[in-house]
Amino acid sequence: MSDGPIVPTAYEPKNMKFRYLGNTGLQVSLFSLGGWLTYGGTQKGNVVKECLKAAWDHGIQTFDTAETYANGASEVEMGRALKELGWPRDEYVLTTKIFFGTGRKEPNTRGLSRKHIVEGLKASLARLQTPYVDVVFAHRPDPATPMKEVVEGFTQCIRNLNLAYYWGTSEWSAAQITEAIGIAEKYNLIAPVVEQPQYNALHRERFEVEYEPLFRQHGYGTTIWSPLASGFLTGKYNEGVPEGSRFATNKAFFEDTVKMLQSEEGKAKVEKVKKLTKIAERLGATVTHLSLAWAAKNPNVSTVILGATKVEQIVDNLKALDVIDKLTPEIMDEIEGVLENKPKGVATWGRVREKGPVRG
Ligand SMILES: NC(=O)c1ccc[n+]([C@@H]2O[C@H](COP(=O)([O-])OP(=O)(O)OC[C@H]3O[C@@H](n4cnc5c(N)ncnc54)[C@H](OP(=O)(O)O)[C@@H]3O)[C@@H](O)[C@H]2O)c1
Repeated sequence: MSDGPIVPTAYEPKNMKFRYLGNTGLQVSLFSLGGWLTYGGTQKGNVVKECLKAAWDHGIQTFDTAETYANGASEVEMGRALKELGWPRDEYVLTTKIFFGTGRKEPNTRGLSRKHIVEGLKASLARLQTPYVDVVFAHRPDPATPMKEVVEGFTQCIRNLNLAYYWGTSEWSAAQITEAIGIAEKYNLIAPVVEQPQYNALHRERFEVEYEPLFRQHGYGTTIWSPLASGFLTGKYNEGVPEGSRFATNKAFFEDTVKMLQSEEGKAKVEKVKKLTKIAERLGATVTHLSLAWAAKNPNVSTVILGATKVEQIVDNLKALDVIDKLTPEIMDEIEGVLENKPKGVATWGRVREKGPVRG
């Protein structure tokens, strides 16, 4: 734990862009900051506050955590930092996620029963030291709880208890999201408005194909995670696993990933990162900036959630804002040529709408 002064930062915050969270009136900064494996995990104390302050100084006003991150310690660390930083609550957007619990084994301390949605969220808010979050996510679907009960649980949090303004889904199938929206419409409950999926240059299929009707028909928002594939898209794993990096500090969790990196599949992925690095250099950028800009360029992304163990990573990553406009159609084609993973997409039989949702 470092007790040093808040690290001064130099990057220009005015460069930040904002997007609406899907079809809501809530604006989120195009880049946001999350606490998975970092805050409350490997990073505790002053460094958490330094990271949040650096993010804020550079225009980030959206922050993400979850009850399960470091078994609640992420919410504790981020909540303490937010309190000490003392920003006006109406100037930032805070999101958390309920489902996995905080490591307890008792039957009702996880899942999406109405009981755990309400009690889990109340416990999250206590750890965060705030009366409400802006968005509460169902961190996974719960096949053991009827969908109507799930939608009722989140509606109760928003409508009756004022614990959140919106709710969303994370890693739900499009069919499950559609079911939840349908139930909300049928029973005058509150529908989910945003999904938190993994999306990066190496992980595209579900976002680009399965969710396409959600974007088109419902204007569903997204707060995307692991935009750098846990750091792999920075090129830091090109020559193996460096000491102190995420794959080293969370060995058990990333054991399969590290094994995969040694396989032919892994070597091919490293080759792609090297080729992307060359394209980035021509744009005066790094492969980190290019990868983040590539994700942010997708208009169905509301915000790209960054992860960072250090202030320097946040400052560096936000240079991606300058790269988005440099990704011309020609450069995007070149990137596709390297990635060779563009999903086929859904069949349209020539029936394409240029713009606007099919229905309200
Ligand atoms: N809903 C879900 O199921 C779910 C799942 C995962 C994450 N999330 C959310 O998404 C957020 C972001 O995901 P993520 O942390 O996996 O994002 P990521 O950007 O893919 O990975 C972040 C990690 O990469 C390394 N890194 C970042 N910038 C770097 C740079 N400029 N140079 C070198 N290394 C750099 C750092 O790790 P090291 O310094 O340790 O190497 C950092 O912690 C999470 O915090 C969480 O809020 C949600």
